[in-house]
Amino acid sequence: MAVTVASAPGKIILFGEHAVVYGQPAIAVPVTAVQAKARVQPDISAPSGRILVWAEQIGLDAALDELPIDNPLAAAVRAALAALGVPRPPAFRLHVSSTIPLAGGMGSGAAVSVAILRAVSDFLGRPFSDEQVNDLTFEIEKLHHGTPSGIDNTVVTYAQPVFFIKGQPVERLRVGRPLHWLIADSGQPAPTAETVGDVRRAWQADPGRCDNLFAQIGLIAHQARDALAAGQAAELGRLMDANQALLQELDVSSALLEMLAATAREAGALGAKLSGGGRGGNVIALVEENSAAQVREALLAAGAKAVIDTRLGQRRAG
Ligand code: PMV
Repeated sequence: MAVTVASAPGKIILFGEHAVVYGQPAIAVPVTAVQAKARVQPDISAPSGRILVWAEQIGLDAALDELPIDNPLAAAVRAALAALGVPRPPAFRLHVSSTIPLAGGMGSGAAVSVAILRAVSDFLGRPFSDEQVNDLTFEIEKLHHGTPSGIDNTVVTYAQPVFFIKGQPVERLRVGRPLHWLIADSGQPAPTAETVGDVRRAWQADPGRCDNLFAQIGLIAHQARDALAAGQAAELGRLMDANQALLQELDVSSALLEMLAATAREAGALGAKLSGGGRGGNVIALVEENSAAQVREALLAAGAKAVIDTRLGQRRAG
């Protein structure tokens, strides 16, 4: 049995987070500058069924049997073995590494699951289809986030920009001209399970108000799809700012995220907003090439821990 390796990109949500959980459309794009990677290596000296999981970045080096049910790496391995109907595979070692910031709203959990599912199924000679990977990753996401919309697993599995509506076939996005976003890490973890739970409680307390906010966000996602296809960067920037104002009304922003978004706009960004669950994680800023350096410097000077580039609409999108 040969060594198998698989990787999966990070992602950002450009429009529609939170509202997407309630059936509104959202737009997400892969970020190939950061990746999760899984490597499976046969362990010929060990008895079959023996699986070792190693991920030095999170201090993990243990046998699969010893890992708790809610360990995300173990959950992905077990999901792969269960789906393949192979409870006692030939012994192997799984190594997992990632350059995707943890808890940063960049889909690191989904990317790790996708990479593990692919590497393990390849190793066992029965590679999963993208659809199987997507479905299994969605089930694993449920263990961690309760009620995920499915957008993270979809964009990470297919590694394509998507216009996503829960429960509907995925639509590939068209992009009319090259676009450039900066992704600024606030340094605060994004507590996605907490913000998703808080939004649900707010919706239960006042469904009319929240449904109205979700519908406004959904309309922005539709408008953004058209603006992306037409390559209207200034309009996209305006829509990002409008989406951010609605996220603030949903109470998933924070003083730090607002400050970083304002900093980006003042330095020349066309628009800026949080991305993902909020109250931490990343702020994304749409920039023209001639203002990118200035916006990056301003974000770093304002306290961003790192700034990653991602581009759409070019042959080497990333
Ligand atoms: O924090 P992230 O990147 O996992 O994004 C969460 C996106 C939400 O819309 C808030 C939740 C979801 O499942 O879509």
